[in-house]
Amino acid sequence: MPRPTQFHRRVDGWGAIVTGAGSLGEGIGTGKAIALLLAAEGARVALFDLDADRAEETLAEIAASGGEARVFVGDVTDAGQCLALVGQAADWLGRLDILVNNVGMGAASGRLHETSPADWTRGMAINLESAVNMTRAAVPHLLAAKGRAIVNIASVAGQRAHGSGSYGVGKAAMIQLTREVAVMYGADGLRCNAVVPGHIMTPLVAKFASPDACRTRRLIAPLAIEGDAWDVAQATLFLAGPESRFITGAALPVDGGVTQIGPLAAHEAVVGRSATR
Ligand SMILES: NC(=O)c1ccc[n+]([C@@H]2O[C@H](COP(=O)([O-])OP(=O)(O)OC[C@H]3O[C@@H](n4cnc5c(N)ncnc54)[C@H](O)[C@@H]3O)[C@@H](O)[C@H]2O)c1
Repeated sequence: MPRPTQFHRRVDGWGAIVTGAGSLGEGIGTGKAIALLLAAEGARVALFDLDADRAEETLAEIAASGGEARVFVGDVTDAGQCLALVGQAADWLGRLDILVNNVGMGAASGRLHETSPADWTRGMAINLESAVNMTRAAVPHLLAAKGRAIVNIASVAGQRAHGSGSYGVGKAAMIQLTREVAVMYGADGLRCNAVVPGHIMTPLVAKFASPDACRTRRLIAPLAIEGDAWDVAQATLFLAGPESRFITGAALPVDGGVTQIGPLAAHEAVVGRSATR
């Protein structure tokens, strides 16, 4: 979708943390899009990233459009770093209303017996434990604020098997973590939801997926397009903001319908549309 240009101050004055708020290359990844959109909607945004330069690029864009943000450099797979950085971010923000757990990525390729225990551990750390670490560190601050929402960026790989090993298992567990946290803290007014992206064209995908693979990604979904980072950002804003006050524990697909289509229809969509697109 086109970059958003109209904003409604939906989260005016709120404090937000977004993990993975830089982008891995040219273009806009979901963490960056989420940070830009929350800032444009009035939030002060703490930009968490391993890589200072990438996060600084996001900061520069937010500052150029009159928003407020600050960079916090660290590794969200490290529980100690999460605790320290969330404390610093909460001090700077003054109040923490929103946590977006966006960090995640495909782990080592190969079938299970071809990968090592260390590959598995790394995949679970980046796709699940990062969100656990950040949630544990942020909850005490979130409970003291008003908005109070956690949004986890999961994946359709956590709902349908893609043969991706620890990535799919980690994302499935992240969706269950979302439900557990929703139930655990609902009575305290803290909501927790997941966005479940399907085939999204981001810098990482542009780097690694072949044009053929991208074409298949487009053809296979009922809407016959790939999404982009703004699709994920808009869904995240909705689940983080006041309009979703009665929604918690949900896993919202942002996938062009790819998790709804049956295998035969998907096959026919690829074969049938191939002739014309
Ligand atoms: N692109 C897709 O098709 C797709 C589909 C489904 C789900 N997702 C999910 O969307 C999310 C965002 O993906 P993206 O490719 O747009 O990435 P992104 O561009 O949003 O995030 C990349 C940033 O994360 C930072 N980062 C990586 N590991 C980190 C760590 N341990 N600690 C702190 N920062 C770290 C990187 O330095 C980089 O700046 C991921 O959770 C991914 O699994 C993507």
